[in-house]
Amino acid sequence: MKFFIDTALLHEIREANDLGVLDGVTTNPSLMAKAGISGKENILKHYHEICQLVEGDVSAEVIATEYEGMIREGEELAEIHENIVVKVPMTRDGVKALRTFYKMGIRTNCTLVFSAGQAILAAKAGATYVSPFIGRLDDASTDGLSLIEQMVLIYRNFGFETQILAASIRHTMHLVHCAEIGADVVTCPLNVITGLLYHPLTDIGLAKFLEDHRKANA
Ligand code: E4P
Repeated sequence: MKFFIDTALLHEIREANDLGVLDGVTTNPSLMAKAGISGKENILKHYHEICQLVEGDVSAEVIATEYEGMIREGEELAEIHENIVVKVPMTRDGVKALRTFYKMGIRTNCTLVFSAGQAILAAKAGATYVSPFIGRLDDASTDGLSLIEQMVLIYRNFGFETQILAASIRHTMHLVHCAEIGADVVTCPLNVITGLLYHPLTDIGLAKFLEDHRKANA
């Protein structure tokens, strides 16, 4: 399972990358705004900077909502770096754009996916990744992980090559369950990735080992 970090903050990307387990980055317009990045030039420059930091795929989202605009923006984003994956919303125009990008050889991430039906459409259109938002489903009292289970089954049944990119991850157990179910990728905030490190018994065990070593070698 690939680990992506879900942020536009360079210091967070660096920290996750330093751990040696990072396979890519996802961003969205809200994350870019939160990182204080605005204006077309700055946005394109920022994506370029992220691509220099990380070896894996970097999702960059289109802002246009109609087909022609999406294609124009997607082409521009794809030119920034070979690792750019164009993020396209699950809308009628978005599905058309996914198909066109597929034919053009531009890789895509279909975002804002909340149902198995949407996931089937995106895979049929040729999306490279499809992003089900499990945390937002949980927030709406719907089981986000069940959607991942359905997608794993459906994509396996039909041999779709589209990768399931579990998004809107809120905590470490979301990540662990996604791994059990068989999501191809998880994209998480930094605290979820680093949260995997901790267990109190590890800290207690290490302290005891070091204490015993110190006593024996005093
Ligand atoms: C990533 O691709 C998504 O945009 C992101 O995971 C959404 O997460 P949120 O629901 O925490 O905003």
